Amino acid sequence: MNNKLFPSDFTWGTATAAYQIEGAGSEDGRTPCIWDMFAAIPGKVHGGHNGSVACDHYHRYPEDISLMGELGFQSYRFSVAWPRIFPEKGKLGEKGIDFYLRLLEQLHKHNIKPSVTMYHWDLPLWLYEQGGWLSRDTVAHFEEYADTLYRRLGDAVPMWITHNEPWCAAFLGYGMGVHAPGHEDWNEALTAAHHLLLSHGRAVQAYRAAGLQGQIGITLNLSHVDAASPSEEDQRAAQVADGFTNRWFLDPVFRGSYPEDMMSRFADLGVTYEFIKPGDFTTISTPNDFVGINYYTRQLIRANPEDRAFGLAHVKGENPHTDMDWEVYPDGLYHLLRKVSREYTELPIYITENGAAYADELCDGSVNDGERVEYYHRHLEAAHRFILEGGPLKGYYCWSFMDNYEWAYGYSKRFGIVHVDYETQIRTPKQSALWFKELIHSNALPA
Ligand code: NOJ
Repeated sequence: MNNKLFPSDFTWGTATAAYQIEGAGSEDGRTPCIWDMFAAIPGKVHGGHNGSVACDHYHRYPEDISLMGELGFQSYRFSVAWPRIFPEKGKLGEKGIDFYLRLLEQLHKHNIKPSVTMYHWDLPLWLYEQGGWLSRDTVAHFEEYADTLYRRLGDAVPMWITHNEPWCAAFLGYGMGVHAPGHEDWNEALTAAHHLLLSHGRAVQAYRAAGLQGQIGITLNLSHVDAASPSEEDQRAAQVADGFTNRWFLDPVFRGSYPEDMMSRFADLGVTYEFIKPGDFTTISTPNDFVGINYYTRQLIRANPEDRAFGLAHVKGENPHTDMDWEVYPDGLYHLLRKVSREYTELPIYITENGAAYADELCDGSVNDGERVEYYHRHLEAAHRFILEGGPLKGYYCWSFMDNYEWAYGYSKRFGIVHVDYETQIRTPKQSALWFKELIHSNALPA
């Protein structure tokens, strides 16, 4: 391997999620999810935007997949909308299943390998009304949902991801109230996190029982954490940030326990841990086939006695920031990959998301997103360095294939390598999309 080439079996992919692109919010029997509910609450989402039309991918998927094929992508990571598969309790959404079968067929036609996420945050509203992730019963519902997907789509899916970023679903959704369903209670956040993790383990077990040949894993949003100074206080605060973001999910999945330092910190916030039942950790740590990592930025942390919950504050780093105000910090990806593979697991790693939002402008039919190209280039250099050192990185998915619904930011943030005009639904590949085409074709970093 020369020093710019990627391994010949490396997978180049691109990623999206159902609620962010599909639209067709009440079509073919789909019922609302918690994001439909949350977006309708004034002040929760930028401009009151919701996913009812989004990129209209539900109708435009053939065109979208063709473009993906033209750009040379070898794999496509998308998610299934749970409320299309189970629009009501115990009722199977045949039309929903049919949509994903057609999508899979289209991918097959273009020789693009599907990577399917089962839960990318669109919990059916009927299930939320029965307790959502606070209820242990939801774990059984998730298992039933997963099992249905295996039986109906399983033959065409070589790679499954149970959950996308359970940290966000639980902590942003139930702890900080900035994502659906918008609760602010740490006992609830940890209960939701536990049930998400438990449902991951159950879904992995159900996959093994189904006897299918593909691979299954989970995608975690992990961050590289730096202390703002060498002082003992700042170092300790950085440890807490690492526990909060990374270890609370890595430890149970790969070590079968929650980190003790964080358990006592959360106990001080009133968390009682009644949700942990005998045998749970054995289920949660059921062996996986790979681990998916989403990486966007690092966290720079200082001690902050005024923060009663965690005693920390985020410091703005000195590097350029994206339109999300996230610091561009490619080295963090390298350090994170090393940390996961050295401290947690020897399993294959996929970067299931990495990318940047910029305030793109369409001029004369093109988008010159040089900053995004630079972002990708530098992060891929970091990933490549890890591979050259023998690291088990098997694939990379850019986030996102096209501009889409960026959750609480609505349509105001553009992460796509393909520009979407939301009025006309016209897609225009940005400079970054053409850059990826060249990269995938040569399977090497540009000089
Ligand atoms: C992670 C999430 O999985 C995805 O849905 C989101 O759009 C990106 N990060 C960017 O924030």
